[in-house]
Amino acid sequence: MKIAVVGPGALGTLLAGFLRAKTKEDVWLVDKSPERARRIREEGIRIEGMSSISVSINTSANPKEIAPCDLVIICVKSYSTEDVCKDIKDLVNDNTSILTLQNGIGNVQVLNDHFGADRVIAGVTNHGATLLGPGHVRHAGRGDTIIGMSNGKILGPMRDAANLLTKCGFETKISKDIDSVIWSKLVINVGINALTGITRLKNGMLIQYNGTREILRSAVQEAVKIVKRKRIKLVYDDPIQKVESVCKATAANISSMLQDVLNSKRTEIDYINGAIIRQGKALGISTPVNEVLTNLVKTIESSYEEAEEMN
Ligand code: PAF
Repeated sequence: MKIAVVGPGALGTLLAGFLRAKTKEDVWLVDKSPERARRIREEGIRIEGMSSISVSINTSANPKEIAPCDLVIICVKSYSTEDVCKDIKDLVNDNTSILTLQNGIGNVQVLNDHFGADRVIAGVTNHGATLLGPGHVRHAGRGDTIIGMSNGKILGPMRDAANLLTKCGFETKISKDIDSVIWSKLVINVGINALTGITRLKNGMLIQYNGTREILRSAVQEAVKIVKRKRIKLVYDDPIQKVESVCKATAANISSMLQDVLNSKRTEIDYINGAIIRQGKALGISTPVNEVLTNLVKTIESSYEEAEEMN
């Protein structure tokens, strides 16, 4: 099987390293930066923390060089999904399946529009990863991975993808209602990501302080109102308890949004808390806490230079 992992961020690097180390498949890592791709090609992938892996990996910034794959796994930030669909056209032919394991909502629709719903596999993973440098990642937490198709079908290529991920160490289940799974993950990200980005706290600390715990609960409650109105059934019964348990389980994690803030990078706020605001507006549900969180994260993103000057 020929596999391309698109996006050399924390999750993409972790997954590519696992696929390369634990399977005999032809695995490629796709990086839009030729310079960084060259470095990863020369130095390979190093994983530390909960796993210890050191492997070489075919890495390229040129999809033409890779040619069509059986499976393309999208691990780029949500704001790049639209562009990536055009960039990866040489990786895709009629037999290619496209799997997304991105945070936030909206990605599946973009991929469905470009490639057709019968070829797009949606999913979430609860593995935690921190990027330490090009090709260098800390495996910060284990969790399950759930995949499914937005049209509810269970097709052969999806089963193959689930088996492949499980074989490489990403224990994967299949769901017939992947929309609920994606919303269930979104609610967790709504509670954790912006608050960690603003406070610069690790996940576990959010529930140690009364102030952050209260804001976390309020943000989650707003998201749950939307979930209920949309008649989405979350995969857990008590959303606040679930988000707090994820904080505990990933206590030492630097959330993906905090990693972006620490690296002065654009965050996925528009696809997480920002998505709650948009959905709230469409449904007539007010989301003041998510608005404040979104505005604060956007202010942080806009003022990286000023913050740098003060250091
Ligand atoms: O985005 C993240 O960092 C992760 O999805 C999560 C679950 C919040 C753990 O850090």
